[in-house]
Amino acid sequence: MSAAPEVYSPGLEGVIAGETAVSTITGGLRYRGYPVTELAEKATFDEVAYLLLHGELPMRAQLADFQKRVASARRLPQPLLELLRTIPRTTPPMDAVRSSVSVLAHFDPDTEDNSPAANLRKAERLLGQIPVAVAAFYRLSNGLPVIPDRSDLGQAANFLYMLRGTEPPPAAVRAFDVSLILYAEHEFNASTFTARVVCSTESDLHSAITAAIGALKGRLHGGANEKVMDLLRAAGGPETAEEWVRDALARKERVMGFGHRVYKTGDVRAGILKEYARRAAEASGDTKWEETAAVIERVLASEKNLFPNLDWPAGRLYYALGLEVPLYTPIFVMSRVAGWSAHVMEQLAHNRLIRPRSRYTGPEVKGVKPLAERG
Ligand SMILES: CC(C)(COP(=O)(O)OP(=O)(O)OC[C@H]1O[C@@H](n2cnc3c(N)ncnc32)[C@H](O)[C@@H]1OP(=O)(O)O)[C@@H](O)C(=O)NCCC(=O)NCCS
Repeated sequence: MSAAPEVYSPGLEGVIAGETAVSTITGGLRYRGYPVTELAEKATFDEVAYLLLHGELPMRAQLADFQKRVASARRLPQPLLELLRTIPRTTPPMDAVRSSVSVLAHFDPDTEDNSPAANLRKAERLLGQIPVAVAAFYRLSNGLPVIPDRSDLGQAANFLYMLRGTEPPPAAVRAFDVSLILYAEHEFNASTFTARVVCSTESDLHSAITAAIGALKGRLHGGANEKVMDLLRAAGGPETAEEWVRDALARKERVMGFGHRVYKTGDVRAGILKEYARRAAEASGDTKWEETAAVIERVLASEKNLFPNLDWPAGRLYYALGLEVPLYTPIFVMSRVAGWSAHVMEQLAHNRLIRPRSRYTGPEVKGVKPLAERG
């Protein structure tokens, strides 16, 4: 038993559960020192993924080599493709991507090697493979043939290409790319912490990422971005939204896409992506959900002091780009795998088993009656 004084914070709120050099939210979100606001303006997701995994922004040749390695990993083993073809079409894509990462472990030559070099290789491969799995399951579950990747395209453009087989317009690619940048990393959120807990037992990277996907799926975490469009549709439109949201609050419902454990006055990422969501909606010729969202934002700020998180504009952006709702959290996975992997490598570099204590709330000590005496 530890002699440390008992510290208890429900949901671990405010608890410093470890050290990280990957990102910080103190003084504004920064990845490896770079403000996310600047990364979203001046970099691409491919550069940011490199930054998270390798520790520094790439130079041109480094980026080209990295993109080549990631693109060459954009293939799935045949048994995984078969699995994606045969699992029920109604399987949530989040479950399909979780199973995919687990299956990919069986075919990765480095699965059991926990050295930094092997983990980096595995992380780069997952970066290439996960979007292929998401797009393949999307196509197969809709009865469509899988579209091979385009090795000349970066992560954002290639994913959109693999969904439909046509090259997406540059504005759509940029908006999607920015969403991936903003989703890539966020210090000790629930799924990242999950990944760190798993690898702290000296388990492997694929196990850590599989578990992290399970944690991300919930609607209080990444799953919120899929709930945003349900909510906007339920609100009906700008004319009915105010009444709808007031009723929802009166019923003590949570409004998905609002509130945050660590941002109580607003999430800078939401502000950045909001512009892209608006422009994408304008380009699609349908701004109804943007107008509806504005009404809901106003009511939640004034009534509950609650502000949008990143999932709020992300859900709308993806919808305006014509993407189907069950893809939204898997898209988050495609991006966050960079952050998760960086954390796994960092955890292993300074590992100590993560094993907190609990406060016991069960009965006082009881004697065990043998079965014969229990009746
Ligand atoms: C993210 C979230 C889980 C963080 O919650 P938290 O820090 O644990 O805060 P709590 O759940 O303790 O909530 C504190 C209060 O704010 C309210 N609240 C928080 N988020 C809310 C939301 N989205 N809608 C309505 N009320 C909300 C809670 O009901 C609670 O009110 P109460 O004190 O009257 O019971 C929460 O804001 C939430 O559920 N948001 C919606 C899901 C979402 O968008 N998740 C993505 C996060 S990036």
